[in-house]
Amino acid sequence: MAVCSVASCIVAPSLLAADWSRVGVEVQRAKQAGAIWLHLDVMDGLFVENISFGPQMVEAVRRVSDLFLDVHLMIQRPDRYLERFIKAGASQITVHVEAEHDGGVEQTLRRIRAAGLRCGLALRPETPLETVLPYFGLIDLLLVMTVVPGFGGQAFLERQTMPTLRAACDRRHAMGLNFDLQVDGGIDARTAVIARENGANVLVCGTSFFGAADAAAAMKALLGQGAGSGA
Ligand code: DX5
Ligand code: ZN
Repeated sequence: MAVCSVASCIVAPSLLAADWSRVGVEVQRAKQAGAIWLHLDVMDGLFVENISFGPQMVEAVRRVSDLFLDVHLMIQRPDRYLERFIKAGASQITVHVEAEHDGGVEQTLRRIRAAGLRCGLALRPETPLETVLPYFGLIDLLLVMTVVPGFGGQAFLERQTMPTLRAACDRRHAMGLNFDLQVDGGIDARTAVIARENGANVLVCGTSFFGAADAAAAMKALLGQGAGSGA
């Protein structure tokens, strides 16, 4: 059972759930709570129902923080925007295998890496793991969506997504690779345990983090360091 130790687990607060009227304050709140990553959910209203923000938000956050900016492109044509997110200060760019890639998924991933960033590949809950296997050797992170992408505050889809996460963890081990395994959607102190037990080591948390009055306590709870955890 590949359970990631608390030490190696990363909580990536999702800006989607922050108070956008005070983005700078919210970013500082995340940093003061111990966050080292910040997850930015970019949505175009085409690949997903919702529209969120673009490269200028990444630029604004980069101006006020040195956090690792984990940009999740839930957009139809990621190739068209890669340069703008790279220039904006992203640390990592994750694209969806289901999106349209002008030169193919491999070329998109190589372009992100060639710019000196980490590259991630994401799949929706209904997408079979086989779709992303050919790219395992090219990625720094695999994002197994644990909700249908588009909106924060949804329920964790355990039955539909944990088998995929577990299989990805096992195949990664069998292939001698060690990219990060990230989950995104419905992650709270309870579901974080389930995700970690199935191999996740990066936990995207929107509502459970920015919705909490005490972000530092939320961070500890998400990492399993809460009261009575013995950690
Ligand atoms: C879905 C988004 C959400 C967000 C986190 O497209 O990607 O998963 O990051 O949402 P919560 O943590 O509020 O479920
Ligand atoms: Zn996301």
